[in-house]
Amino acid sequence: ETVYVLNGPNLNLLGTREPEIYGADTLDDIAGMLEDRARELGLEIDMRQSNHEGHLVDWLHEAQAEGVRAVLLNAGAYTHTSVALHDAIKAIRTPVIEVHLSNPHKREDFRHHSYVGMAAKGTVAGFGATSYLVALEAAARL
Ligand code: DQA
Repeated sequence: ETVYVLNGPNLNLLGTREPEIYGADTLDDIAGMLEDRARELGLEIDMRQSNHEGHLVDWLHEAQAEGVRAVLLNAGAYTHTSVALHDAIKAIRTPVIEVHLSNPHKREDFRHHSYVGMAAKGTVAGFGATSYLVALEAAARL
């Protein structure tokens, strides 16, 4: 069974992007960690990243069409702006788990509201790359 791990804007720059906030791991490092744990859990990871909102919407629809077990979604800044992502999560039955490296609630006011979180099954935030691992554990237990 497959778990999609969908990553939004600027997450391709992980490793060099504000490492004091987001840590030193690259997205490839995170994919490697997730693949190792997924193997132990008998799951497969399909890791993707796009800077384009509509790609994320398309991939959520695809998750449902492909019958994947769950989606881990770090929508980056679209978390705080995207009614389209909110609606896409609501439009599919596939469980979506919101993921963030940082804890948006400890940061600027504009990060305190999440259109993704309002529609998601649950949220894991604030643990760096470990947020993804915890979300994968949750997906395995759904
Ligand atoms: C983020 C938090 C968002 O507020 C920010 O726009 C990001 C990364 C995180 O993983 O901590 O791009 O989603």
